[in-house]
Amino acid sequence: MRVLLIAGGWSKERQVSLNGAAQIKEALKSLGHEVLFLDLSPDYQELVNKAREADAAIINLHGAPGEDGSIQGVLEDVGLPYQGSGVRGSFLALNKALSKQFYANHGLRTPKGGLYFPQGRLHHVPPPVICKPNQGGSSLDMQIFYNQEEMYSFLNQVDSEHEILVEELINGHEVSCAVLDNEPLPPILIQPVKGDFFDYNSKYDPDGAVEICPAPISQEASRSIQEMSLQAHRILGLRHYSRSDFMLDQQDNIYILETNTLPGMTRTSLVPKAAQQAGIGFTELIARLLSLALN
Ligand code: DAL
Ligand code: MG
Repeated sequence: MRVLLIAGGWSKERQVSLNGAAQIKEALKSLGHEVLFLDLSPDYQELVNKAREADAAIINLHGAPGEDGSIQGVLEDVGLPYQGSGVRGSFLALNKALSKQFYANHGLRTPKGGLYFPQGRLHHVPPPVICKPNQGGSSLDMQIFYNQEEMYSFLNQVDSEHEILVEELINGHEVSCAVLDNEPLPPILIQPVKGDFFDYNSKYDPDGAVEICPAPISQEASRSIQEMSLQAHRILGLRHYSRSDFMLDQQDNIYILETNTLPGMTRTSLVPKAAQQAGIGFTELIARLLSLALN
């Protein structure tokens, strides 16, 4: 089969995408597929032309465009099957503030927070807070503030076209849990070694964090996290796979932070680790995603 592997692009996660794509390419080849590789450029005609030559696509773009539903829309138009969520689900999940409203409306606990607008004050989220680009990934450009002055001096200098989510800071452990084909995989506990939280460096430096799978947390917390991952997957209308990220506080309260529709596939990424723990090796994982795309 001819598989169009779409990666790269121009988001800040370009390198993460290319690193993962190199591994996916090897896996596809070892499964006997021919790989058409596309480093996405703003020239969508190239995407359309290559899509017409392929039987299926694997999208490994992170951030926008790609994780926001735009590329999925192009592939829908061309009629090329692809793995992962469709246009609507991708769009919803990449928007953290919008996803939080969906979670809350369905009774999933999520940290208090909202988008910052220069004309408004954030009375409902007093520091400590974590500020995140509303549509970013890989923990890039995140900042923690412990006092209001510093928080506002940061927020007031942010470009008005960049949406910033300001969220109550939850102290506790970071846990991530993936869903594959409507089944939750074992949760992973993340302990950053370098830095205060699972930031970009600790995510992609093999020694930057200790990731323990299955997470050594109570059985009850583990089950609830798996259930919440599945619920988030369904609430946002996602397909095939996703990975939700959580905070587990000292009292075992679970807060959902976000859901990723094109989770990282690098050597240190979480979904391949969780799949491995469930007995699904990397090549088999790619084969599963391809077969989900085709069904
Ligand atoms: N945004 C990165 C790739 C992740 O969720 O793994
Ligand atoms: Mg993310």
